[in-house]
Amino acid sequence: MADQASRGGERYATPQILDYTARTHHPSDHSLERAFGAPARHGMPEIQLGPAEGRLLELLLRLINATKVVEIGTLAGYSALWMARALPPGGHLWTIESDPKHAGVAAEVVGEAGLGDRVTIIRDDARAVLPKLCDSGPFCAVFLDADKGRYDVYGRWATENLRAGGLLIGDNAYLFGRLLDDGEDAKAMRRFHEEMAASYRSVCVPTPDGLAVGVRLDPKA
Ligand code: DHB
Ligand code: MG
Repeated sequence: MADQASRGGERYATPQILDYTARTHHPSDHSLERAFGAPARHGMPEIQLGPAEGRLLELLLRLINATKVVEIGTLAGYSALWMARALPPGGHLWTIESDPKHAGVAAEVVGEAGLGDRVTIIRDDARAVLPKLCDSGPFCAVFLDADKGRYDVYGRWATENLRAGGLLIGDNAYLFGRLLDDGEDAKAMRRFHEEMAASYRSVCVPTPDGLAVGVRLDPKA
């Protein structure tokens, strides 16, 4: 139960507590270590999810028996690895990455983890990819983690292409603390939140930068 301080945004987590709880609930393994360390090894930005966020994605996908998932923003494949682990045989993750170097590193990471058969890395801009991906849907979940100023557009695509009961998830939903600013990207992120709230049963989980999670309501209900 939250008290006044934690409701106000104060955190009790320390690096040591985060380390203990991660080791206890979801100890890392070789593939996850390789994936988590890939951005640093390859001189890429170290902006991958934290381990607990990755695990949460895995659990959310398992809860809805997800079989077809789309990710926008692969980076080095750490989140893709977590999500691919949630999929049953025959399930598939399409993950979109516009930076060819990042996509190459992700392909290596996913291949090393033995998950190449259930992950397709698409090296292109999501704006070009999404219209073509519709034919592979409807999808069980869409995870947004790139182009923060286009979450509204990507969210609308998800709303059109998710099955009822499917999940729309957005990382960095606090926009690095700029969610309430006047800039265009902040306005787009607020539209994403507001449109999600209208078509989903949703929450913004207070992870370090906010993780918006919504269950697609049945448009026919
Ligand atoms: C950045 C992007 C992310 O997706 C993230 O989780 C953290 C930082 C960035 O572009 O700086
Ligand atoms: Mg992110």
